[in-house]
Amino acid sequence: MVSNTPNPHGGTPQGSTLLASPSTPPSAGLRADLTPSALVHYLDQYVVGQDDAKRTLAVVVYAHYKKLVGAARHNASIAKSNVLLVGPTGTGKTLLCQTLSNAIGVPFVTADATSLAQTRYVNEEIEAILLRLLGKADGDLTRAQHGIVFIDEIDKLKSASGQLRSTSGEGVQHALLKIMEGSLVKLSPTHAIDTSNILFICGGAFVGLDKIRSGNPNYGFISVGDSANQKILDKLNARIKPTDLIEFGLIPEFTGRLPVIANLQALTRATLVKIMTEPRNSIYNQFRDIMKDQGVELTIAPRVFVEIAELALEYKVGARSLRGIFEEMMTPVLYAVPDLPQVRKVNFSSLFANPALQDAQGAAVVNPVAV
Ligand SMILES: Nc1ncnc2c1ncn2[C@@H]1O[C@H](COP(=O)(O)OP(=O)(O)OP(=O)(O)O)[C@@H](O)[C@H]1O
Ligand SMILES: [Mg+2]
Repeated sequence: MVSNTPNPHGGTPQGSTLLASPSTPPSAGLRADLTPSALVHYLDQYVVGQDDAKRTLAVVVYAHYKKLVGAARHNASIAKSNVLLVGPTGTGKTLLCQTLSNAIGVPFVTADATSLAQTRYVNEEIEAILLRLLGKADGDLTRAQHGIVFIDEIDKLKSASGQLRSTSGEGVQHALLKIMEGSLVKLSPTHAIDTSNILFICGGAFVGLDKIRSGNPNYGFISVGDSANQKILDKLNARIKPTDLIEFGLIPEFTGRLPVIANLQALTRATLVKIMTEPRNSIYNQFRDIMKDQGVELTIAPRVFVEIAELALEYKVGARSLRGIFEEMMTPVLYAVPDLPQVRKVNFSSLFANPALQDAQGAAVVNPVAV
């Protein structure tokens, strides 16, 4: 079915000698020239809201790839700023990372921390993730070594006592921190990938973190001079601190490898409406295109989007449920229209009423499958 993410790279691994070198030149096609504001502008076309997270990510990605290009020139090593995205489910964490990697033209893969925690063979799973990245780079090791790996549900790696170390969340954190920092991972007896320049972005909902944070002291606690800017102070206080994450259950070494933390906000009704209508590849635009291909003009009243958003809020999975509700609304039309060639217009005035079908003269057409 139609997808809401911009055209990801694809491909399968190939190539024979995949030996990593510590100072590989920057990949062909890497757009390290995009400034943070240009990156945010690009993101704005696909991701609604989440301005703070967009800016934070854009700055990290810009600095990372700038350093990478510089390092290839100067042979210097790169200090990496891996990122942690904290936000409720379906608020755009994966979408942000996918869109950013498209903007700069680097391969991107997502992995699930929960499945890492469920296997006894964590290292094999990690190798499989890196192999997928190599696949996304069409077997080009240099490109893969400059890719982005997004590890979701990192909050599920909370350390819990009484479990086998190899299967515990803490064990996975240890395995991950090695590759996040940069290491040579063997993909086969003769092939290895260097993870030093791969950007790792971790994401998670961290349910319960708010409660921990409200119990921890703020910066106002430390005495600050009269010259302190209250807005900056408020911003600092709104930040998630490493100590909050440690209290949540991440091990300090792991937290230490995620120096940048960005917060994503829960989506409001207004944002959900915008998500359906504003992005370049919004659901509305996608379905308008599908209908247009059949010679039919689709119009949906603003009220319908509000009704869908309200239902989606009830489902509590962010923007994730929008497509399902939308498709359900569209199904009777998508089913009937190919058999009704005289239909030229379809108009929805409410989610809870059958849409009006019209022919070229504006006369009503009866939809035989209307409920
Ligand atoms: N801010 C947003 N702007 C535009 N679309 C969004 C936004 N947030 C979510 N979506 C839509 O919802 C879908 C799910 O979002 P995404 O996969 O990015 O969620 P997530 O935050 O990674 O959730 P999870 O924690 O469950 O992995 C996206 O494919 C996109 O269609
Ligand atoms: Mg996700």
